[in-house]
Amino acid sequence: MRKIPPTTSSNWRTPPEARPDLNFVVGDMQRSFLRIADNLRWYEQSWLGVPIWQLADDLVALQRIVFDLNPKWVIETGTKFGGSAIFFASILAMMGRTPGDGGIITVDIHETKEAREILREHPHRLAPFVRQRLVGDAKSPDVLASIQATLATDPGPALVFLDDWHDGEHVYAEIQAYSKLLAPGDLLIVADTTFEDLADTPIVPTSAKYPNPKNSNPRSALKRFLDGRGDFQVVREYTATGISNFPDSVLQKTGI
Ligand SMILES: C[S@@+](CC[C@H](N)C(=O)[O-])C[C@H]1O[C@@H](n2cnc3c(N)ncnc32)[C@H](O)[C@@H]1O
Repeated sequence: MRKIPPTTSSNWRTPPEARPDLNFVVGDMQRSFLRIADNLRWYEQSWLGVPIWQLADDLVALQRIVFDLNPKWVIETGTKFGGSAIFFASILAMMGRTPGDGGIITVDIHETKEAREILREHPHRLAPFVRQRLVGDAKSPDVLASIQATLATDPGPALVFLDDWHDGEHVYAEIQAYSKLLAPGDLLIVADTTFEDLADTPIVPTSAKYPNPKNSNPRSALKRFLDGRGDFQVVREYTATGISNFPDSVLQKTGI
């Protein structure tokens, strides 16, 4: 039988990074996984007894991010019941940080009774890590001025986690505003870019709150923000499996 000679051409194989679109089955499976997880109510989840609206894999990703960056400040929009604030506090505590050394700033347009109680007195002494609880629109001048003043008084690495209203115009305005608070090396995460994949399912129906979820969502906001600018890069290593609600939206300020 004739032996097939080994190929000598260097371009017979497509490097995966050159054609990410060829991984369409992987993308389909990731989207299906998240849609199944939503059907099974992944969000009925808690951290140290407090309800938290994050996917379990994302909690591991966030833990890795906090450990690697060791942020002085974690700034989150969307307090809800206080679960993500207590989660971030618990990671800082496990890293040996003390409550007066930076901490968590959390913002919500509504203050829930649960958050008020939990963030005043969490049974595992994590509440003092939550240094500021701001009530107001996350993109309002008052809220932004308060955060800016804290960062100016006590500067250090910062992680911003945008997890409030998922309307595209709102998220775009937020990314623009919060990105200006950051220094090179700091991170900004736009939560729930997968919201787009759930548009017009019973989980994300078209509604007064979300009149156009397919086209106006965290992912559309992120694309609009990144278009034509080079001062932020997308970091994919923390969510590489794609089992994430922010698989494409961990950003790092580069300083360019
Ligand atoms: C997805 S929940 C946050 C979940 C929370 N981060 C967690 O992991 O448990 C979204 C929150 O955003 C708040 N929100 C909605 N619009 C807002 C706005 N314009 N500014 C600040 N918070 C807002 C809602 O009140 C709600 O509590």
